[in-house]
Amino acid sequence: MSDFEKKVLEFKNKLDQIKDNKLVETIRVEIFGKNGFINQEFKKIGTLSADEKKIFASSINKAKQELQDIIRSKENELINKELNEKLEKEKIDVTLPEKEFKIGKIHPVSQVIDEISCIFSEIGFSVEEGPDVENDYNNFTALNTPENHPAKDMHDTFYLDKNMKTLLRTHTSPVQVRTMLKGKPPFKIIAPGRTYRSDSDQTHTPMFHQLEGLHIDKEINMGHLKGCLNYFIKEFFEVKKIKMRFRPSHFPFTEPSAEVDIGYRIENNKIIIGEGDKWLEILGCGMVHPNVLKNCKVDSKIYQGFAFGIGIDRLAMLKYGINDLRSFFECDYRWLNYYGFDPLDVPTNYRGLSR
Ligand code: DAH
Repeated sequence: MSDFEKKVLEFKNKLDQIKDNKLVETIRVEIFGKNGFINQEFKKIGTLSADEKKIFASSINKAKQELQDIIRSKENELINKELNEKLEKEKIDVTLPEKEFKIGKIHPVSQVIDEISCIFSEIGFSVEEGPDVENDYNNFTALNTPENHPAKDMHDTFYLDKNMKTLLRTHTSPVQVRTMLKGKPPFKIIAPGRTYRSDSDQTHTPMFHQLEGLHIDKEINMGHLKGCLNYFIKEFFEVKKIKMRFRPSHFPFTEPSAEVDIGYRIENNKIIIGEGDKWLEILGCGMVHPNVLKNCKVDSKIYQGFAFGIGIDRLAMLKYGINDLRSFFECDYRWLNYYGFDPLDVPTNYRGLSR
């Protein structure tokens, strides 16, 4: 076998084994490129005798034709192979059953935050937010809490640094401070959000939710506070009349301060809100202390007002008959499926909720 024939055979073998079209292209250049095999061989013709020339030229042409045919069919073969593989992979089997489709549920806490926001927005409150990671000043000092006030221990604070300057907010009251410092009175806001204390039992979890309320204007008094809370509780529990009492209390950030209880009774193991001779504490409130106003750059000779703090989870438990607070945060899908709310079935109005 001549060198030429050997080389042709080599190319044929190479082409035979190729599995990728890019390599076919490389070999095509090797054979048919400007300085490729075929041109190199043609160049040799000049050195041959007339007879030899004829024979050699015809064998080059034959080889050229053969190699071209092989390359073309190899290319087709690889294109088809690729196409078939793609078709195989992307095949849609229309006979397969559809995928199970689960609609998520709205968590009772989110639901209650929406309901409360709705109720307060109807009487002109807007919604503010503050960060979960707070500084000691906004959480305690600006709220008139003295350095060694027992409230600091009472709150069982999660501090985030050794100097006890950064913490997980123990209540939503620091949003009062942030709101007043960044704006100008009057203020009429609510601030729902997560709060944290080192506490855990059937009615306490280390993370829980509160809603802060603040109304500061020139002539706001305790009568407004009472009217506002009375309206809120009636709307929230969807009752026409509510038994409610203000019990004197103490908070560093309000003077006077009160805790609000609502009347209830138990009937057939169910809690009936609004009537009866039992009392249930649901929130803390009071008239904002002048020191707080001063710390927040509000002139307390001109402006005054009330604030309140509501435990959201507690309200959700009461309204929707959920006994264990801890179950709220266990992320058990079965629980959420039972107590959660259908996102497609939320009424346009917060009343008459269906589950
Ligand atoms: N921050 C209080 C707490 O976490 C709740 C509270 C009471 C907020 C009275 C207020 C208020 O704004 O006026 O226990």
